[in-house]
Amino acid sequence: MKDVLILAIESSCDETSMSIVKNGTTEIATVTLSQIDIHKNFGGVVPEIASRSHIENITIVLEELLNKSKINIEDITAVAVTYGPGLIGSLLIGVESAKTIALVTGKPLIPVHHIAGHIYANNLEKRLQFPLIALVVSGGHTDLIYMKEDYSFKKIGGTLDDAIGECYDKVAKVLKIPYPGGPEVDRLAHLGQDRYHLPYPLDDKSYNFSFSGIKSAVINLVHNEEQRGNSIHTEDLCTTFQNRVTTVLVKKTMRALKEYKVPNLIVAGGVSANRGLREKLDVECKKENINLSFPKMSYCTDNATMIGAAAYYAYQKNIVSPLTLTAKATDNLYNN
Ligand code: KG4
Ligand code: ZN
Repeated sequence: MKDVLILAIESSCDETSMSIVKNGTTEIATVTLSQIDIHKNFGGVVPEIASRSHIENITIVLEELLNKSKINIEDITAVAVTYGPGLIGSLLIGVESAKTIALVTGKPLIPVHHIAGHIYANNLEKRLQFPLIALVVSGGHTDLIYMKEDYSFKKIGGTLDDAIGECYDKVAKVLKIPYPGGPEVDRLAHLGQDRYHLPYPLDDKSYNFSFSGIKSAVINLVHNEEQRGNSIHTEDLCTTFQNRVTTVLVKKTMRALKEYKVPNLIVAGGVSANRGLREKLDVECKKENINLSFPKMSYCTDNATMIGAAAYYAYQKNIVSPLTLTAKATDNLYNN
């Protein structure tokens, strides 16, 4: 069978990324330009600056990708793009670029939901095994998803308010840790002790999550201590916070695996890089004989390789779009 080569574009937030992926599993080449250094100065992503940077970067990234991969653009099978969800101005640059490439080359256009991409980051190098449960933990999502087969997504539960990555970044901000603070909170959490009084967020029988309460609890705690003239022990607060959120994430995930009688768990999204979460899931999955998979570190945060991996399976299901494709700031992944 002829190889399927997908040229994929991801520009939903602050990374301009393009990749060529073979048969949904093999990365031929990827080029990613991150804007973190620009947005750091503002303590978070500034949407208008992000879309301007994507415009400046996108042709540079394409040229470098074609040089690096040594693949002629005429030889690709299809073009794939993250159409949503994300920052609308940022998404538009990727979508319009993908449409242009599809028009010029006459190749099919595959629209990919950003979260499908994060899930299929686990398919690079090692094929997904079904049925599986995906714990999606990113800057914009916290979901438990059941997949009985490729490209079939059933939502079991999700956050009722903030996403877990967003919560990490807000906690980091109040502790004066530069954006994006998640990885640094994770590092500091390994240096402290669990000794602050913080709640377990939505520790109930549902499969939903809620992180706005614990976020406010951390902010209030820091402000109260400041007003009293007391200093905060940053490492201890990070340890306590990380323990609370990962305990609930792991508890609900393990319960879902049991109830749905699923032997495979994958973790997806930027927060899948979190060491605390990895360690806890590792222990529990060994106990319960669950086949656990995380993406390679370089595929945890936003990248086009994961979009190319997901697109292969979308293409098998004839998910292609006319050139009227539009970007969507919000959109639902779940099809049943
Ligand atoms: O998936 P992603 O790259 O972007 C979205 O689709 O949202 O996730 C980015 C998020 C940020 O909130 C970042 O702070 C968080 O992932 N993150 C982490 C870690 N690494 C990245 N949060 C906690 N611990 C980490 N090690
Ligand atoms: Zn993402």
